[in-house]
Amino acid sequence: MAEQIEWEPLQARAVELMNRAYAPYSNFPVGAAGLADDGRIVSGCNVENAGYGVALCAECGMISDLVGSGGGKLVAVVCVDRTGEAIMPCGRCRQIISEHGGDECRLLTPEGDLSMGEVLPQAFGPANLA
Ligand code: THU
Repeated sequence: MAEQIEWEPLQARAVELMNRAYAPYSNFPVGAAGLADDGRIVSGCNVENAGYGVALCAECGMISDLVGSGGGKLVAVVCVDRTGEAIMPCGRCRQIISEHGGDECRLLTPEGDLSMGEVLPQAFGPANLA
C-alpha cells in the first residue's frame, strides 16, 4: 500500500508559488511543490522569456530548490494551474522528477494519487548508465 501523503499543505505551497509565476506570454502560471524524504517542502514556479522556447517549467525551479537546499529524494509532488487544481507535469518534467524521486514517488494528478512509475513507465534513469 502506498504511503499516505498529506496533500493539502503541499498543494497550498504549489498555489503560493503559482501566484508568483512569471508567465506573461502564455498567461498559464504553474506552481510545483515537492516533499523531500527529510520532510522539507521544495517548490518552484514557471519563468517565461521573450525567447519563448527558453521558458523554465515550474518543476525545474522545484528541482533546483531540492538540490540547492540539501538534496535528498522526492517522496511526493504536485503541480497546479491558476485554479489551484493538479495538472500533469509535461514529459520533460516527468523525466526530471523521475531522476530525483524514482518510480515510487507519488504524484497528485487530475486522476488522483499515482506513482511516477505509472505516469512514466519504463523510465530511463541512472541505472541505465551503469
Ligand atoms: N509548464 C510548466 O511549468 N510545467 C509543466 O509541466 C507544463 C507547462 C509551463 C511552461 C509554460 O510557461 C506554460 O506552462 C505553458 O506551457
